[in-house]
Amino acid sequence: MAFPPSFIDELIARNPIEDVVGQRVNLRRSGSNLFGLCPFHGEKTASFSVAPDKGIYYCFGCHKGGGAINFVMELEGLSYPDAVRNLAERCGMEVPEDEQYQSRYRQQERLWALHKEAARFFHSQLYAPVGKAALAYAIGRGMPKSVLIKFGIGYAPDSWDALIKALRSKGYTDEELKESGLVTVSQKSGNLFDRFRDRLMFPIIDIRGNIIGFGGRIMNNKDPNAAKYLNSPETLIFNKRKNLFGLNFAKKSKLGYLILVEGYMDAIALHQHGFDCAVASLGTSLTQEHAVLISRYVEQVVLIYDGDEAGQRATRRAIPILEKAGIQVKVLKMRDAKDPDEYLKKFGADKFRLLLEDSSNRVEYQLNAIKSKYDLREDDQKIRYVHESAELISTLPSSVQREVYGGRIAEAAGISTEAMQLEVKKAYKRRLERERKQQEKIDLAPVQSLQPKVRTVRYDNMKSAMAEEKILANALQDPSLMDQAKGLKGDRFSVELLGRVYDQLYTLYKNGLEVTLAAVADLTPEEMSHIAGVCQRQDGPVSETAFTDCVNTVLGISQAAMVSTDADLLAFRNKLRESKGTKS
Ligand code: UTP
Ligand code: MN
Repeated sequence: MAFPPSFIDELIARNPIEDVVGQRVNLRRSGSNLFGLCPFHGEKTASFSVAPDKGIYYCFGCHKGGGAINFVMELEGLSYPDAVRNLAERCGMEVPEDEQYQSRYRQQERLWALHKEAARFFHSQLYAPVGKAALAYAIGRGMPKSVLIKFGIGYAPDSWDALIKALRSKGYTDEELKESGLVTVSQKSGNLFDRFRDRLMFPIIDIRGNIIGFGGRIMNNKDPNAAKYLNSPETLIFNKRKNLFGLNFAKKSKLGYLILVEGYMDAIALHQHGFDCAVASLGTSLTQEHAVLISRYVEQVVLIYDGDEAGQRATRRAIPILEKAGIQVKVLKMRDAKDPDEYLKKFGADKFRLLLEDSSNRVEYQLNAIKSKYDLREDDQKIRYVHESAELISTLPSSVQREVYGGRIAEAAGISTEAMQLEVKKAYKRRLERERKQQEKIDLAPVQSLQPKVRTVRYDNMKSAMAEEKILANALQDPSLMDQAKGLKGDRFSVELLGRVYDQLYTLYKNGLEVTLAAVADLTPEEMSHIAGVCQRQDGPVSETAFTDCVNTVLGISQAAMVSTDADLLAFRNKLRESKGTKS
């Protein structure tokens, strides 16, 4: 454990979950729980619950959950120790720095400093005689000196060890050079080589302003097999799934939205032309982590991916990822230019601004995508076009929207608006029926539906697993029950995760510490969410006999199981639904 348990105990006590969550989410009380709109996924009805007595939050919609520390980790995108520091600051506690954590942090600090040094070196090379061609290339691509300085653009000379020498002279060890990812190690000799050679260098900067990696662009085609862009590998400080190029600037933008593009040069060109809210992903497709990061700053994103097939595919992929994080998505389609950089150079900022104002929202984009699939001169295709569009329109929550878009489809297909409205209504009914059938299936196959949503956790012995869940939930509500547990240990649990948590709860209890889920350490966010869900679903009074029954089930002592028949499972399922029902 990274921090002393007594410290975490006090930290949790001083940061009530309803206060920590309440700062970011509007909560309304309903029974012993509080409900609000989930900050982790977009929703219109509140399925996000907070249980002050248990010290946890849990979303019945997206199944995220945990204690106060997890909440801060998830929402702010912080690591466990950083979330702990954040909460400590919130309540004015001093953090006893853990040895291991400190050494890791020191290591990170060294790497940040090393990258800063490297960026300085690359930048200086741009103006040195070796950088002449690179400087000409950069200027040729329309970057004036002010932009080169603002983005810290540099040049990695065509040398095997220019950077290595520069960094060694500043006191960095070979070990640190290897950790930085800026050098490669020869398999044969073990010698170090500069990873980036003869490339234009783009520093990648995180939201705290630290340089964490580089992208390097090739400037000639001497080697036809060399990648156009080479990026830093994953290191202690660089994770391309979690960082976006330009976000250090874009997060300060007053424009109120972000522009998401594919390339470094696109982002730079946009900033140069006054669109200071542009960011680029780093040679990966957009991840959920990116989306959550973005959602901390804006509620709207304009997607401008390249006009080619790959760009269109990336667009379709990115839309649901962003929407899942509660972000409203607009799509800008570029014509007569392959990417924003080229567009701005060809047509200028004013034209681009018009394009931006014109960019269509998600529904329009999707309707256009449907339309492009059909040839509307053919009757049978027209029918399928109307049918498929109606399906999409029927999912829209606002009747005004349904009418407006329905009207457009009607016009395009040459049918009356009434006929279109009827189609939408039919599609709506079909969808309801589908959903009802799905729900029925879930009800009739309760065992399956009780399988955890977390991929890494499987319930193989459902009977024991249900008992184990109940033991945890009850122990959290009344820790003294663990005295009756007949020496039960986590290794007797059929579900490793549940056993692990039980052991930790027991240790907390035996050490006289507050027994709360928030104090349980070393769980992945998914595992924590699962446990929070387990506890939030199991409501109601605790009884000693029920608890002992569960213990017996786990120990295999008696056949008196808590959940033994389908009827029990159905009852459980109903309770689950009831607890969801309390939200409104
Ligand atoms: P593009 O090939 O669209 O390049 O790659 P670009 O941004 O238009 O570059 P310029 O204008 O020719 O200089 C888009 C992004 O994909 C990643 C980079 O992040 C790049 O900015 N990429 C591309 C790679 O990581 N490796 C590659 O080999 C190519
Ligand atoms: Mn380009």
